[in-house]
Amino acid sequence: MAIGFDIITIFPEIIEAYIGESILKRAAQKGLLDVKAYNLRDFTTDKHRTVDDYPYGGGSGMVMKVGPIYNALKAVKADGAERLTLMLGPQGKTYDQGMAEALSRESRRILLLCGRYEGIDERVRESLVDDEISIGDYVLTGGELAALVIIDSIARLIPGVLGDEDSAKEESFTWGILDYPHYTRPPEFMGMKVPQELLSGHHKEIADFRRKEALKRTLARRPDLLEKAGLSKRDSEILNELCSHKTGTEDLEEEK
Ligand code: ADE
Repeated sequence: MAIGFDIITIFPEIIEAYIGESILKRAAQKGLLDVKAYNLRDFTTDKHRTVDDYPYGGGSGMVMKVGPIYNALKAVKADGAERLTLMLGPQGKTYDQGMAEALSRESRRILLLCGRYEGIDERVRESLVDDEISIGDYVLTGGELAALVIIDSIARLIPGVLGDEDSAKEESFTWGILDYPHYTRPPEFMGMKVPQELLSGHHKEIADFRRKEALKRTLARRPDLLEKAGLSKRDSEILNELCSHKTGTEDLEEEK
């Protein structure tokens, strides 16, 4: 299984710089990830390679023109490959781990259109893309960081991209709840001890401890996640126990 992305942006170097390092670089070398970044200015037709213009109706800021985007999409799609075309912007559907998992199973290439300036001509949203994605309720100066967040979060779900096959499966959000706490040597540092359960060597005791800590942390920090998480009967028992021991969730978290 491999995944391919096409990114349309006025800053292809931003995309290339990030994917050219570390885990994503290795994923590309192994043939598991293919990312092609295209410069939107290469699809303009005027001398100044203009990608934006003043908004009809006035107001501040510039708007990205529909023409160069249309040309870029047409050129990228000319190879005839199946593609899912997504534009990035703060008005889109909020991206989460569930979307990353669904997209990691896509057989189509994923085309990401990065916006800049105050916005993109509405006709792009209406007619040229399949959907719009936001990576959160804040406004970035452009879609490049959002594209990288999406590529990164999807790539690490592709089997073989992470060294340890289990690491993507076990962590935060994959269970629908927050991650358990991690420790490594030394067993004691400036008086701070690693929990005894993790030093026991008993697999069941360790698994129980981790699950309980993950639930405790989720209850304290992100109780909203518990409603949607697929909790087992044992999880519910642990949660009931945690709730009955404490009155408020804020003091469940023993750290700081
Ligand atoms: N472009 C600007 N803000 C964004 C956001 N929150 N998500 C995706 N693309 C964006």
